[in-house]
Amino acid sequence: MRRSVSEIVAQMTLKEKASMCSGKDFWRLESVRRLGVPQVMVADGPHGLRKQAGEADHLGINDSIPAVCFPTACASAASFDRNLLRQLGEALGQECQAEGVAVLLGPAVNIKRSPLCGRNFEYFSEDPYLTGELAASHVAGVQSWNVGACLKHFAANNQEYHRQVASSQVDERTLREIYLPGFEIPVRKAQPWAVMTSYNPVNGVYAGENKHLLGDILRRDWGFKGFVVSDWGAVNHRVNSLKAGMDLEMPGCRVTDKEIERAVLTGRLSMKTLDEAVRRIVAAVLRFSEHRSPAVFDRQAHHDLAAAMAEQCGVLMKNQGGALPLAPEDRVALIGGFAKAPRCQGGGSSHINATEVDDALSWAQKLGFKTEYAEGFSAVSDGRDEAALDEAVRLAGASDTAVVFAGLPDSWESEGYDRRHMRLPACQLELIDRVCAVQKRVIVVLHCGSPVELPFADKVGAILCMYLAGEGVGQAETRLLWGRANPSGKLPETWPMRLQDNPSYLYWPGDGRTAVYGEGRFVGYRYYDKKELGVRFAFGHGLSYTSFAYGPLRVSRARTKDVEGLTASIEITNTGRVKGSEAVQLYVVPEKPGDRPLQELRGFEKVTLAPGEKRTVRFKLPGRAFAVYSETLGGWYVPQGGYRLLAGASSRDVRSEAKVWVQGTRRLPFKVTMNTTLGQLMEQEKLRPLLQKYLDQYGSGQAKTNQSAVAAEAMNEDMQNATMYESPVRALRSFGGVGSARLQAAVWYLNRKLKKS
Ligand code: BGC
Repeated sequence: MRRSVSEIVAQMTLKEKASMCSGKDFWRLESVRRLGVPQVMVADGPHGLRKQAGEADHLGINDSIPAVCFPTACASAASFDRNLLRQLGEALGQECQAEGVAVLLGPAVNIKRSPLCGRNFEYFSEDPYLTGELAASHVAGVQSWNVGACLKHFAANNQEYHRQVASSQVDERTLREIYLPGFEIPVRKAQPWAVMTSYNPVNGVYAGENKHLLGDILRRDWGFKGFVVSDWGAVNHRVNSLKAGMDLEMPGCRVTDKEIERAVLTGRLSMKTLDEAVRRIVAAVLRFSEHRSPAVFDRQAHHDLAAAMAEQCGVLMKNQGGALPLAPEDRVALIGGFAKAPRCQGGGSSHINATEVDDALSWAQKLGFKTEYAEGFSAVSDGRDEAALDEAVRLAGASDTAVVFAGLPDSWESEGYDRRHMRLPACQLELIDRVCAVQKRVIVVLHCGSPVELPFADKVGAILCMYLAGEGVGQAETRLLWGRANPSGKLPETWPMRLQDNPSYLYWPGDGRTAVYGEGRFVGYRYYDKKELGVRFAFGHGLSYTSFAYGPLRVSRARTKDVEGLTASIEITNTGRVKGSEAVQLYVVPEKPGDRPLQELRGFEKVTLAPGEKRTVRFKLPGRAFAVYSETLGGWYVPQGGYRLLAGASSRDVRSEAKVWVQGTRRLPFKVTMNTTLGQLMEQEKLRPLLQKYLDQYGSGQAKTNQSAVAAEAMNEDMQNATMYESPVRALRSFGGVGSARLQAAVWYLNRKLKKS
């Protein structure tokens, strides 16, 4: 029988323990062979296996082994499909077992705060619930193969600009409600083996030294059991990071190993803390090495899977007058470099050495469609080529339909830097304009990892957004364009009209020392909705070649004391002529939103239906679906009141709704002081009758009788009441002539009254 992890750690020398806390090299962890701790390796993620065999780097510069590039997170999120992410995770887990990789560095669950973030393509969404749910399935899929998943980058890493030094300044409620649930949900549901800290400080403390994030939140509040690893080269102060709960430094660093040893010998670091970190790392190593499977994977099967997944991710943004699908007899002009060399992934550490990338040009030919090709513009830069433009316009005019394959060049979107604007290359915009002048049926297919401005949106017949859909993209888009597959993707983020509309616009990217999250909780649709701003395409939007009818939304209880376990259900019918899938979305809307967003996504389910088929979709709503985070309570609570539940085809296409009244879980503490306003007192149910009596006696009624007509016009009764409600208790000294002692007694009495009830 092998020794337990604790027994192994107990027998390790200080030097062995210290060296276990950083890698052996760039990708491998340390081993202690004499105690049966073998060497294992980790590799990037998140949408494929980037295992480097030769020279190592974390920026995607040097080659890695050939591997399958699955849809990147921006695309897979558009599937709104937990099963798809589970499948993706399983495929990756299997590849890891086959290649001897113990931990896959992903998924990445940072929130899309601005469309400019260079790494948005690696992230899922602007919505924390969608992010967390999809990530949980991804993690569960990878780990079903006894390979660890590693959630990253914890936390508030939402830009590339000065990512190693700029402190993200975010208030606690915004962190808890927006930036953390993407981590919290997979930690609670799927227990990833590892969490990677981000490069940046959060509120002035490096994420890897942040006791609040790692200790209070990740381990205490959420119950995380795995190990915490630094982002590559992120360590600022090794001993402080160990004390805060950051166990493993990557890549390996002998300098800081020594610092750990010295800190233990001089009593600045307890052996207990070090043991704890080593135990967590060793446990993961053994978990992998003791559960090796003789996995081999069929690359062709995984390629086909990647293509099938890409089909589920394509979002049909617009389809006027049934411009799509194309008819097999149409003579179609395929225009734009992306038709031949599609962009299927982004740059940086997630860059997969994909050896077989499907392109639409070959696939259209393979499937026997009548197509001709003109490059028009290159896929790799914004270079204007007059002759190529002319040739493309000529072909567009001579065809039945023109499909323009547009997108962002590779170098415009990558880890390491942010975009400067939200536009497509000028040569592409010019070409689309000119094609629209000679051809009535124009379709645009987009290849980009984040929203772009779409000045041509009203002019073209259809827009199909593929995001960065992995190596099967060409096959998938061809099948979608010609109706061999039916689009079912929904946008996991709002596409604003223009960059200036984005809520982070005024603060982005900060001064290099701080990134101030001034828009707070109002990220994405939470902002656009509250401001009633028009957007190009709303969060959750996506069309289909069929149509769906939504029945009435039913809730299990219309009034509920215990909000846990409330369910909502709705019948969905495919009312069109082809098979299709619909991602049904459920939003919770407080009737009195106050400082809350108007609506928040709290459920989604994807159903596939044959023509005429119907199915009932069910949503289970936990208390958290209604809850807000209170800094005063240091926790979540459900505000009492009425809520509307909206079932929709997008955040702005509500099809059915129901109401529910929920009893609050906790009350915010309330204490009367001399500085409490009368208005605040009147909000307290228990005090209201008492105060009303007092006000009736001495308040506005009396004042009114003494008022002249002129005075009444200058300040009517409503104005007087409003002014009075804004006055603190102590003001009754100046304006009511009430003595301090009497007021203090009144404060005491009111507090007693509150306590008693
Ligand atoms: C990235 C991580 C990645 C690591 C290793 C870093 O630059 O931020 O996401 O896992 O490198 O390549």
